[in-house]
Amino acid sequence: MAKSLDVERLEQAVKSVYQDVAEEPAEEYHFEMGRELAERLGYPASDLDQIPPQALESFAGVGYHFDLAALEEGDDVLDLGSGSGTDAFVAALHVGESGSVAGLDMTDQQLSKARQLRDEVGMDNVFFEKGYIEDIPFDDGTFDVVLSNGVINLSAEKQRVFTEANRVLKPGGRLAISDIISEKLMPKSIKNNEDLWAACIGGAEQVDRYTELIEQTGFEVREVRDNTQYEFISDQAANACQKYGVKSISLGANK
Ligand SMILES: C[S@@+](CC[C@H](N)C(=O)[O-])C[C@H]1O[C@@H](n2cnc3c(N)ncnc32)[C@H](O)[C@@H]1O
Repeated sequence: MAKSLDVERLEQAVKSVYQDVAEEPAEEYHFEMGRELAERLGYPASDLDQIPPQALESFAGVGYHFDLAALEEGDDVLDLGSGSGTDAFVAALHVGESGSVAGLDMTDQQLSKARQLRDEVGMDNVFFEKGYIEDIPFDDGTFDVVLSNGVINLSAEKQRVFTEANRVLKPGGRLAISDIISEKLMPKSIKNNEDLWAACIGGAEQVDRYTELIEQTGFEVREVRDNTQYEFISDQAANACQKYGVKSISLGANK
């Protein structure tokens, strides 16, 4: 176990897990994946029926926040850490052909899976871009809505992520995210464990600090709620969750 957080090694560890999530969704992970999880979190079956099932197999989100996003026809949407594309495809159903959805991810295998599925179903208003959520490759004021599901906990630079999300939103734009946070501060033995970081636990920010970071970057937080339907499945992960109150939340905020 590393004594301190090595950001480059961490990135490799995260990419390695999410490469497998894209390519081997039936393997065992610390966390649950797939359609059953999505339905339990609150995704309407009627939406899930309309998106590629292979995207859903690799769905590794932690909550449902489309009600907080309140997507409208014509909205331009950005999904931070779009994975194999579930949330981008769901968003596309709601913004229609006059809107657009951009998915941003750093892991090649997630991007190529999402792009291939997009081409197969012919969703022309969805595209997937390679890049980092800490350095978003879009201009200021591009989007009406920024979404993100189970991703920001994986960043060692959360303040940069929220600053960037704020920058690319139009004035009054909405942030709607689900993420893993902790009620208590976690010890270094957990925070510096790459496996637990890549499993969405090690990087979980203490919840008050998390909302403070969002507000410091210029958002007004409207709602924060617990996603009690979300549970980690490995023993190691479940123990850390119980001890430090690691849990899933969904949050809505406005620029
Ligand atoms: C837990 S998965 C969630 C994927 C997707 N949101 C979903 O609900 O299925 C995390 C995703 O975020 C991506 N990711 C993690 N850190 C990132 C970063 N700093 N920049 C861009 N993508 C990142 C990973 O490659 C992975 O696809």
